[in-house]
Amino acid sequence: MNPFHRANQKRWEATARNWKAMHDRRGTWKLCAQSPELVFVPEEMKHLQGLSGKRAAVLGSGDNLAAFALAGLGARVTSVDISRNQLEIARERAGELQLDMEFLQADVTDLSALADATFDLVYTGGHVAVWVSDLDRYYREAGRILKPGGLFLVNEYHPFRRIWKMEVDHLEVAYDYYDRGPFVFKHDEDVLDRKRGDYTQYEFHWRVTDLINAMLSAGCNLIDSAEFGEHVGDWEGAPLEGLPEYLLLVGRKRNG
Ligand SMILES: C[S@@+](CC[C@H](N)C(=O)[O-])C[C@H]1O[C@@H](n2cnc3c(N)ncnc32)[C@H](O)[C@@H]1O
Repeated sequence: MNPFHRANQKRWEATARNWKAMHDRRGTWKLCAQSPELVFVPEEMKHLQGLSGKRAAVLGSGDNLAAFALAGLGARVTSVDISRNQLEIARERAGELQLDMEFLQADVTDLSALADATFDLVYTGGHVAVWVSDLDRYYREAGRILKPGGLFLVNEYHPFRRIWKMEVDHLEVAYDYYDRGPFVFKHDEDVLDRKRGDYTQYEFHWRVTDLINAMLSAGCNLIDSAEFGEHVGDWEGAPLEGLPEYLLLVGRKRNG
């Protein structure tokens, strides 16, 4: 595994307990199979119809809310994450929700455990690309496992939100939009709390056009896009109101 990903994986393994506790406080995981609109915005829902019996992969599945919601929509879901601990928590929760799903520990840049042209839908996002050093390889793997005509939904934290200094009362650029990194940090285990610690982390700031171009290079035509959301979380540490929270890209795998 590449050293950036190995380092990031170590922290995700360590933080999985906090991630679980946060989601237990919120409780959405218990509801989202019944109410997928708690997870997916209308711009996504319109592409997520008729999934009954279809195969879906969620890449960098983390909290697995998207995976549970897709299972609730009738899809046969494979949940992929680099963190064994995240997957173990998701497996337990899927059991409690009586959802029949598959779990695969894998790096999104190497999905060799999954055959070509297997899935009708690949879903990813919500802060996955930021941990990945090779976006083209990641999306190429997504494209490879998609059937021709299958959908590739990317719903990522909007790149415009990544560039600011942690200043609560004004916006100040800390990271040049054109600089992709890697940005190296030393943090403690809690991903939500940016305290300094012993875990070395590598973050990558992909631009809007990187995401689009990687999707096109993955053999998909871009068929829809949207920008939405205005919530600003405490962890963001800057007055980001007025900047879009998420960028949705919808690709369709080309034939041949
Ligand atoms: C912020 S979560 C994103 C998923 C979901 N939206 C959430 O909020 O939980 C990030 C997830 O990506 C996973 N991840 C990070 N790097 C990865 C990689 N190279 N391959 C697969 N998963 C990765 C982490 O283990 C973590 O579970």
